[in-house]
Amino acid sequence: MSDSRAPTWWQREDLNYQNGNLHFAGHEVNGLAKRHGTPTFFYSAKRLTDNVQRLHTALQKAGLKDRYRVLFAMKANRFAPLLTHLKGTGLVGIDACSPNEAEHALSCGFRPQDISFTNTSLSRNDYDRLNRFDGISMNCDSLTCIRKWGEMGRGRNIGIRINPAIGLGRADNDKLQYSGANTTKFGIYREQFAEAIALAKQYDLTIAKIHFHTGCGYLTPQLDYWEGIIKECLWFVDQVKDTVKVVNVGGGLGVPHVAFDQPLDLDAWAQVLARHFLTRNVTIEVEPGDYLVKDSGILLLSVNTVELKRDKTFVGVNAGFNIALEPAVYNLPFQPLPATERTGRKQRVTIAGHINEALDIFYSDIELSPLQEADTLVLINAGAYSTSMASNHCMRGEFKEFLLY
Ligand SMILES: Cc1ncc(COP(=O)(O)O)c(C=O)c1O
Repeated sequence: MSDSRAPTWWQREDLNYQNGNLHFAGHEVNGLAKRHGTPTFFYSAKRLTDNVQRLHTALQKAGLKDRYRVLFAMKANRFAPLLTHLKGTGLVGIDACSPNEAEHALSCGFRPQDISFTNTSLSRNDYDRLNRFDGISMNCDSLTCIRKWGEMGRGRNIGIRINPAIGLGRADNDKLQYSGANTTKFGIYREQFAEAIALAKQYDLTIAKIHFHTGCGYLTPQLDYWEGIIKECLWFVDQVKDTVKVVNVGGGLGVPHVAFDQPLDLDAWAQVLARHFLTRNVTIEVEPGDYLVKDSGILLLSVNTVELKRDKTFVGVNAGFNIALEPAVYNLPFQPLPATERTGRKQRVTIAGHINEALDIFYSDIELSPLQEADTLVLINAGAYSTSMASNHCMRGEFKEFLLY
């Protein structure tokens, strides 16, 4: 991932260098590292609010006014202060994907009616627990789920997660797609939809919502696919047009990771929704994780080693892919930034973690101002799917988290 075209593409009002020192959310990053140590995640409360607000503005501008709801996909980040902050904005509900997540959302102040639940492969115990959260909105992802949820309580509203057999993801990355040419475990396909409707009828369940989530990290170049997915989804909506009140279009809205990523044109994205849904009597739900939290979070690391091996200079840091796995697992690079920009010739380096795994590389081959042992290094875009997916691999799972106001 070599990227030297626009080295400051990431710069913004609350993330920039001042006199050679990186500042984030009104704080000098070196000061944060000194006070709290590393590895530590910091999230900007203001950036979170701004991201939510931007999404609302786009939906309103497109004419959806009071006909939409934004849910935060808490699988992206379940840090309680962050969830409580989001709840405090009054602008989001929650997309939960396990009974524990649903309960955690309740503990952070959300109400059952604020929660939309979508999961796959639920156990009897999962259904029992979900059944206790009166008012939670259930999206059934399979015929089995319709049957089991129906057995637990007839006569209620359900959502059905469909699989439109078209997927999308940043840079058309297959690993980020949840539906597409390959058959996936997610949702009910066209060919089984009639069976789903019949099963719902058998249990006196009303199909009030069509739900789909087709992929992650999509940006402006993927908007044509986005429109294709919406058109495909309309077939499903039409099959249940007498009862459907809500269409949940999932998450997947991305943010740039490198200079040549074209940011998502939110207005164009929202206009696709308006174009296809304004004439139908439905409310739109959107459940982003990434878009709301990814660029609100940074990870502070310390440099342990700087060493030339053959033709590569490796900068070894004090954390590994197990606490921030998107670069290694999904090929989503986190731009590294030295907390202090030293003068002198830039060095071409590869940032490596401290885990004994070959894939433990945060960024390959990038030009940075010279780094030395004990320097603080920042990874940006670390706010989503880092801590929530962290493991204790090699017993190196420790990190701290702070929400900055
Ligand atoms: C059902 C569902 N909704 C929403 C999301 C959030 O996706 P993203 O963080 O890409 O917006 C996911 C992510 O896996 C998901 O599975």
